[in-house]
Amino acid sequence: AAMVTGAHAATINVGTEATFAPFEFMDEQTKELTGFDMEIIEAVAKEMGDDVRIQNMGFDALIPSLQTGIIDVTVAAMTITPERQKRVDFTNPYYQSGLVIMVRKDDLRKYKDFNSLEGTRLCAQIGTTGAMMAKRVKNAKVTEFNSITEAFMELKAKGCEAVINDKPVVDYYLARRGDGTVTTVPQVFDAEHYGMAVKQGNKALVEKLNEGLKRIRDNGVYDKIYAKWFGA
Ligand code: ARG
Repeated sequence: AAMVTGAHAATINVGTEATFAPFEFMDEQTKELTGFDMEIIEAVAKEMGDDVRIQNMGFDALIPSLQTGIIDVTVAAMTITPERQKRVDFTNPYYQSGLVIMVRKDDLRKYKDFNSLEGTRLCAQIGTTGAMMAKRVKNAKVTEFNSITEAFMELKAKGCEAVINDKPVVDYYLARRGDGTVTTVPQVFDAEHYGMAVKQGNKALVEKLNEGLKRIRDNGVYDKIYAKWFGA
């Protein structure tokens, strides 16, 4: 849908990849997309008088879908990276994240950090910063899955020695679905920041989203949503 200017509400077409709890995932009961990101973009749009329409797709399809205009913005726990900044424009950061290495508990003494992963089989979600980091491990065999859930299952099934993925997503999984057989190594790679991405040059939309983000920070809505999904 085209952006409507003037007093009428516009529909913002949002792209996401919804296997990434607690940021974007399907609520088993309602069968609706939910999560931190979903509530943030809803709040931002509401603040700016717009509607949102969410489309779920592969993570690696998000940036191409911006380029072709299928979506206006990605809200997908997407890390702002220099590589991506060459292809899209990001809003201001709205969440500070990081990567962790997830292993089977029995292997905790073998794999402690990034360097100890040399020559192992690694799993990650396709197109993510976790996959990019996995590819930097010396002599590692990297398998990229469409959803992070599949990577978690492959680790449990001993199809790989480690998964590299965003820390809040791994923590959320371990707290709810962890059966005690998998865990994270102590080393954490922080300093990743999530941003919403728009087609390069779409200044009007970036400015609108930044203004909306600022307003929900100022009026306490951001903090409420944060507390709901991450506690205090
Ligand atoms: N933060 C990581 C990245 O930007 C992973 C994001 C994956 N997001 C998702 N909705 N599956 O690459």
